[in-house]
Formats: sequence, structure tokens, C-alpha cells
Amino acid sequence: MNLFTIQNKQIWSQAITRVFDDSLGYKLNNKLKSERTCGGVCIVDKGFDELLQHWKSQKGNVIPLLQKTQELRGYLNREDMEAIAEVTGKSPAEIYGVATFYAQFRFQPPGKHTLKVCHGTACHVNGAEGLDLAINTELGVEPGQTTEDGQFSVEKVACLGCCSLAPVVMLDQEVHGRLSGDKLKKVVRKVGT
Ligand code: FES
Repeated sequence: MNLFTIQNKQIWSQAITRVFDDSLGYKLNNKLKSERTCGGVCIVDKGFDELLQHWKSQKGNVIPLLQKTQELRGYLNREDMEAIAEVTGKSPAEIYGVATFYAQFRFQPPGKHTLKVCHGTACHVNGAEGLDLAINTELGVEPGQTTEDGQFSVEKVACLGCCSLAPVVMLDQEVHGRLSGDKLKKVVRKVGT
């Protein structure tokens, strides 16, 4: 192992410690590792390996590979990003840097329910920030995070296309409009019970 590789590993390790210390992500990451070494045909990893092979020699392959990997897993884990770094000829730190630059990528497994809080103009002026606050009070998470029990993932999104109902939240496939913080808390409690 040369010095460059060692340095890359150190940078990578430091950069992702915060994200992958999350216990849920850690457990799932370990689960995927064990699937990968199961010795049989692992469907999840077969799909991932095919992705790597498909995009390997194509130009501008980093973003598509990250997107497709997230589609496959639901999030990006360290091991997959290391594999992407290897096939694209980038350092793991570069891949991590790209992934963290874009809000579309997540580093924790998605929760059972997804709460999308609209921050388009109409929702913003009608109290989207207050909805974030209510979620934080109720669930203890901010946009981009998943609750510890894995029940809810919260995302900050652009216009959901129903501005006349602002402020709007989409819970899984259902739109909830004209919300106040208290109304939103009730919606969340109902789903969480
Ligand atoms: S701005 Fe929120 S739905 Fe359009």
C-alpha cells in the first residue's frame, strides 16, 4: 500500500466518521457487508456490481453511479462509495465530497415514512420554517435526518405543485396542506401510532 493510498484512507475515514457513526446506518452497512460475503448469489450486490460494470468506462459517471446506487439501496453507504471511487479512478474523499455537495444524496437508510416539507416560495412565505420547527420538536430531527427508531425521514423539497394549499407537507404519498405546526404534529402522531 503506497503513501497516497494510506493518506486517502485516512482522509476518507475522518470525513465519514460523523455520518457512519449513526447506529442504524452502521448496522445496515454491516448487514450489507455480510450479504456481500455470503458466498452465494447476493441479489443486492449483483445489482450493484452490474451498475459498476455498466458505468465504469463512461464519461461523467460519478453522479449517475451515486444516483443509481441510492436508488438500489435507498441511501449511500461507505463501502459502496469506496467501490465507486475505485471504478471511477477518484479518491474516496472526492466521491464523498461530490455526494455531500448535492442535497439529493442521503447517508442513512430511509425511514419507514418520508416527510417532505415544501420550501417553495408559497410555502416559505406561509410558514414552512415553522413546520420544520414543529417536526424538530415532535421527532427531534431536522431535514436530511432520520429518527432514531427509523420511523421517519425528513426532507426539505422544492415546490410540490399545490401552492394554493401552502404550507404543504407530503407524508409518503399523501399531501397535507394549510398546515400549522400543531396540525402537522397531529398528522405525524397518527401515522406513528
Ligand atoms: S411552494 Fe409549496 S407547493 Fe408550491
